[in-house]
Amino acid sequence: MSIARVFLLMLFVVVGFTACYYDKEELLYGAPAPCTDTTGTISYAAKVVPLLQSSCYGCHSGGSPSGGQAMGTHSADRAMALNGKLLGVISHANGFSPMPKGGSKLSNCNIAVVRKWIEAGAPNN
Ligand code: HEC
Repeated sequence: MSIARVFLLMLFVVVGFTACYYDKEELLYGAPAPCTDTTGTISYAAKVVPLLQSSCYGCHSGGSPSGGQAMGTHSADRAMALNGKLLGVISHANGFSPMPKGGSKLSNCNIAVVRKWIEAGAPNN
């Protein structure tokens, strides 16, 4: 194999890897919050916020949140939790618009974290 061919081959390999790398959703949507355990009390600040931040706040906070659905403060997140929409959209339940829109569904572990926080009454803890 000539040097030129080897070089071309390496170039394809590198370009191939880079393309895959940038296709990774974590890079497009921000790394999902690490989901370690759903045992014990779920802290809103430590567990729920980082998760919603990486998957939802980008579209649902600020002056004109998507779909008029505000998130990003405890009272807004709590309201969405208690009216059933939060769990409905993230678990892709019938009758709800699946969220995050255009992104992949949250992991079962992350959904369990949110569900547990909601079941505890969506406290500001
Ligand atoms: C890329 C932007 C984007 C992201 C990310 C996103 N949403 Fe949405 N969301 C929208 C838009 C646009 C609508 C209004 C259209 C619709 O309902 O599909 C909407 C609608 C909603 C609704 C109302 C849907 C209904 O069935 O009543 C809720 C609740 C919601 N989003 C919650 C969330 C949650 C929770 C997350 C994170 C897990 C999230 N969204 C992530 C754009 C987004």
